[in-house]
Amino acid sequence: MSNLAVPVSSSGSMLLGVMGDPIAHSKSPVMHQAALRQTGIPGDYVRLHITADQLGEAILSIRTLGFRGVNVTVPHKVKVMAFLDEIDPAAAAVGAVNTIVNNNGRLTGYNTDGIGYIRSLKEEAVPELSGKTVVVLGAGGAARGVIHALLTEGPRTVIVANRTKETASKLCEEWQKLGSLEACSLEELSEWVPQADVVINTTSVGMSPRIEESPLDTSLLPGGTVVSDLIYNPLKTRLLREAELRGCRIHSGLGMFVYQGAYAFEYWTGQPAPIPAMRNAVLEQLDGQE
Ligand code: ATR
Repeated sequence: MSNLAVPVSSSGSMLLGVMGDPIAHSKSPVMHQAALRQTGIPGDYVRLHITADQLGEAILSIRTLGFRGVNVTVPHKVKVMAFLDEIDPAAAAVGAVNTIVNNNGRLTGYNTDGIGYIRSLKEEAVPELSGKTVVVLGAGGAARGVIHALLTEGPRTVIVANRTKETASKLCEEWQKLGSLEACSLEELSEWVPQADVVINTTSVGMSPRIEESPLDTSLLPGGTVVSDLIYNPLKTRLLREAELRGCRIHSGLGMFVYQGAYAFEYWTGQPAPIPAMRNAVLEQLDGQE
């Protein structure tokens, strides 16, 4: 295939990477290397261990070294915004950036987490979100990305349930013009979960190694509810295992990881991301861990 339209650097290959701390276990390199191979784009995607005090210099070096783009992960998604030339409006509203695109030295920040999650939810579990009642567990950074993208789909109501109710209330107030939002505490979930079409866990409760924890009393769930977890390690969290036993449809966080990467790859290359190859590359690594 021809790569004439692909913005490779003057070295003739596309340099990409991921900055975070820690970064050793990131599955982004294997996923994006598979995508580069599959599309025939010459390039590489490297793991960059960047501490908080190095972040400013590391961002400057994107231009010097001729990187086409980088992903930014924990703990830099908020602080990185100060070092960029431009922030996409949705990323600005969410308050976090996970993808940087370098256009001839001009750095633009995007957030592909929320839109990646919603693309995955629609393609894998709920094709039509408009008119749906959705309960979101958590009101932190991950929840903000998901809720912002979800509101563009026209749900009937989004109920934001959080351990600290005040954080949920503030979020609902901030975005009240974007759609119907309701805050509740975890104790008040018994009112909302039985009427939900979709329940989404955005908290880290249930993530490896604490796999026996669950963010929700699943006896509240009627069969047929779609239950989705942003966690992908383990692929089937306790929440999803219990929900499945109750006759719910389940959706894991693997898709979110793959699609956030797919959007980033599309921003950098201008080409459709090879999603099956990306998903298989991540799955192979997850299998290798177990
Ligand atoms: P992230 O970017 O992963 O969302 P975060 O911004 O620190 O991380 O947000 C974590 C979210 O998970 C919060 O909504 C947090 O609730 P609080 O606002 O009350 O802290 C929620 N959370 C974390 N641990 C939790 C637990 N053990 N039980 C319930 N909720 C929890």
